Amino acid sequence: MKFQGKVALVTGGSRGIGQAIAVALGGEGATVVVNYLRDAEAAQQTADRVTASGGQALTWQADVVSPSQVGRMAAAVVEQFGRIDILVNNAGGKIRAAPFLDVDEELWDECIDLNMKGTFFCSQAVARHMVRQRYGRIINISSIAGFQTQPDRTHYSVAKAGVAMLTKSMAVELAPYHITVNAVAPTYVKTKATADVIAGREDQLVCMHPLGRLGLPSDVITAVLFFASDEAEYLTGQCLFPDGGNTLGRNWPF
Ligand SMILES: NC(=O)c1ccc[n+]([C@@H]2O[C@H](COP(=O)([O-])OP(=O)(O)OC[C@H]3O[C@@H](n4cnc5c(N)ncnc54)[C@H](OP(=O)(O)O)[C@@H]3O)[C@@H](O)[C@H]2O)c1
Repeated sequence: MKFQGKVALVTGGSRGIGQAIAVALGGEGATVVVNYLRDAEAAQQTADRVTASGGQALTWQADVVSPSQVGRMAAAVVEQFGRIDILVNNAGGKIRAAPFLDVDEELWDECIDLNMKGTFFCSQAVARHMVRQRYGRIINISSIAGFQTQPDRTHYSVAKAGVAMLTKSMAVELAPYHITVNAVAPTYVKTKATADVIAGREDQLVCMHPLGRLGLPSDVITAVLFFASDEAEYLTGQCLFPDGGNTLGRNWPF
């Protein structure tokens, strides 16, 4: 029960990687606030799984892109549970793929807003409470796409590279308050959201991973729980890559 007594907020916790992170934190004793945007039923299912694994849980609807909504969410968490120890900025995604020449203003804004603006303002809202506590763990979910190009994902790559730089800047500014800020940049992770990307070319994608398989939500959990732990207190501004070696560049069949 590594996180007994800790309060965690996971954005985009209703499904996929965020759901897995929320359930894992709950399983280690944390009280987990499961943020979502649209799918209240899925968020409640995550909360039920947290409760079943021994933790306490609450769902909270808020659009991470709205500073006022995330401000209200952070205040509500503190009012209800007295503190916020861990923030996982997981809500994000590529929205949709498009070649550089076809990315229009709407797609650009939507992608940059969800991934970068959302991470920025959620962190700011929560950090204001963490500063008072003089304790906090912020973990931002970036992507390997922020470190290497991917076809038709310029907008997403730029957004996730921004998340990585934001992690470093926040790490420096929040260090005096004993708040650590780290990033996790996964490779292709098998979730419902990536099923269409992976379908029909899993073998080709696996070839890009020296460890011989695509990522699983459990691979991301390991990195997130490490950064959230007290053992990681001297690590800040860092990025871990649960990527099976993908970013090492050996992207030919072997
Ligand atoms: N899956 C991968 O292969 C992969 C690889 C590298 C990085 N990542 C990153 O990992 C994170 C999770 O990915 P995933 O595949 O698990 O995504 P997903 O299955 O699409 O889930 C996205 C989650 O974010 C929530 N969400 C979307 N927009 C939101 C908003 N504006 N405000 C609040 N919540 C919002 C969704 O809630 P509702 O359903 O309620 O709307 C959902 O819970 C993302 O940041 C993604 O970029 C994923």
